[in-house]
Amino acid sequence: MSYDLIIKNGTVVTASETYQGDLAIEKGKIAAIGRNFKSNGSKVVDAKGLYILPGGIDVHTHLDMPFGGTTTADDFVSGTTAAVCGGTTSIIDFAIQKKGEDLRSGLDVWHGKAQGKSAVDYSFHMIVTDLPEKRLKEMDKLVGEGVTTFKLFMAYPGVFMSDDATIFRALQRTGENGGMVCMHAENGGVIDVLVQKALAEGKTEPKYHALTRPMSAEAEATRRALALAEMAGVPIYIVHLSAGDAMEEVRRARERGVAAYAETCPQYLYLSYEDYEKPNFEGAKYVMSPPLRPRGNEERLWKGLTNNWLQVVSTDHCSFCFHGRGGKPGKELGRNDFSKIPNGAPGIETRMLLLWDAVQTKKLTPNRFVEITSAAPAKLFGLYPKKGTITPGADADLVLLDPKRKHTISAKTHHMNVDYNPYEGKTVQGTIWDVFLRGIKMVEKGKFVGRTTSGSFIKRKSR
Ligand code: URP
Ligand code: ZN
Ligand code: ZN
Repeated sequence: MSYDLIIKNGTVVTASETYQGDLAIEKGKIAAIGRNFKSNGSKVVDAKGLYILPGGIDVHTHLDMPFGGTTTADDFVSGTTAAVCGGTTSIIDFAIQKKGEDLRSGLDVWHGKAQGKSAVDYSFHMIVTDLPEKRLKEMDKLVGEGVTTFKLFMAYPGVFMSDDATIFRALQRTGENGGMVCMHAENGGVIDVLVQKALAEGKTEPKYHALTRPMSAEAEATRRALALAEMAGVPIYIVHLSAGDAMEEVRRARERGVAAYAETCPQYLYLSYEDYEKPNFEGAKYVMSPPLRPRGNEERLWKGLTNNWLQVVSTDHCSFCFHGRGGKPGKELGRNDFSKIPNGAPGIETRMLLLWDAVQTKKLTPNRFVEITSAAPAKLFGLYPKKGTITPGADADLVLLDPKRKHTISAKTHHMNVDYNPYEGKTVQGTIWDVFLRGIKMVEKGKFVGRTTSGSFIKRKSR
C-alpha cells in the first residue's frame, strides 16, 4: 500500500499515551499507526529523535481586530504564519458584533478577513456586545453554522461590557442551543472608577494599568460569572484567567459540580507585574487585560494546570507594535495616559515552546502538555477527535519537535508582525522542527515552507 506520507521513528505523544510509532498519512488524515510501513513510493520523513505531537490549538486570538483606537498588528496572513511556525495548526479567533448590528454581519466581516488568508485551520467565537431579546435566536443560527461559542465581557464599559441580565440571558440561551459562553471576567465598573481616580492623581505610567485592575476585581467577576452559569444550569468558560484568587473560584465551582472551565495564558505563567516597572515606557509592552500579577502568582497557576483546575492554555494573542507603523498606531497612544495604551500582547508563536520548556523543567508531563495545548481545547470547543489527538481518521495536524535543540525567542527572528517580543532573549529547550497541516508540510526545519491559503474554516460541533 502506498500512502501520501509516512513519518517514521518518532515518539508519538497524545494526551494519554507516549510510544514509538510510525504514522501513515493519506488525503490529509492519519490513515494508520504502526511500525515499518513499506514506503512503496510514499514520501517519508524520518522523525528519529523527535517528538510527534498533535498540532497546537489556540482558542483565543485576535487577528485584524480594531481595538483601543487602532487595529492589531497581525492580520490573518502574518498571525497564522507565526502560529504554524510556533506549532499551532488551528486557531479560534474572535469575530465582533458591532453595537446595534446583528451577529451575522459581524461574523461575515471575520469570514472576509480570514478566507483565503490563513495558514492554519480556523474557527470563530462571536463577541456579543448587544443582545436584546430579539437577537437571541441569532445565537441559535450561529451554533448551527459551527460558531458555537460567544464571548461576553464584564469589563470595558461602553465598548464591550454587558450587564448581568444580558449575560444571564445569553447563558440561558446556550442551555437551549448547545453553545457556550466564554467570559472576560473583570469588574469593569470598579476598574473604571479606579482608573479615573489614578488619572486625576496624575498617575499616568503603564504600571497603573495593573494597579487599577486588582486581583479582587477579577476574582469577584469570576465568582459572579460562575454563579450566573450555575443559576442558568449551563457550562461556562473563563478566558485569560490571570489571578490565583480567580482560579480558586473556578476550582470551588467545579468542586460543587458547576461545569466551569478556564484557560490561562503563557504571559501569566512567565511574566509578572514587575515588567510594568521597566523604564522608558517599556512597561506598555505588557499592558493587557487582565494584567500581569505580582511574582508568586504564577506558581498558583502552574499548580492549577497540574491539578486540572485550569484546563487550557491559549494565547490571547492581540499584538500592537511598541512604535506603531503601517498606519496602525501602537502602544505610544498611551504615552501620557496608561488608559489609552492598546490592551494586548503578542504570543501566538511562542505558546507551544514556552510550555514545552515546562515539560523540560518537569512542571508538566508531555501528556499534560498535549492535553492543555491541544486535546482539551479540541474537546471543549467541538473539534475532537478531528483535531487534538493522533489517531486513525484524525486530521494529520502534526508537530515534530526536537527536544535537544534550544531556541532563543526574539523579535529579530519571529514571524509575528510586531516590533517586540515580550520574552525577548529567553532561551527555551526545544525547537519546532517540522509542522504539517492536514498532511501538508508547512514548516520544515524551523522554516515556513507553506502557503498562507492552506487554512480552512472549521465548522465546530455543539455540545
Ligand atoms: O488585553 C487584552 N486581553 N486584549 C484583547 C482583548 C481581550 O479582552 O481579550
Ligand atoms: Zn478578554
Ligand atoms: Zn482576548
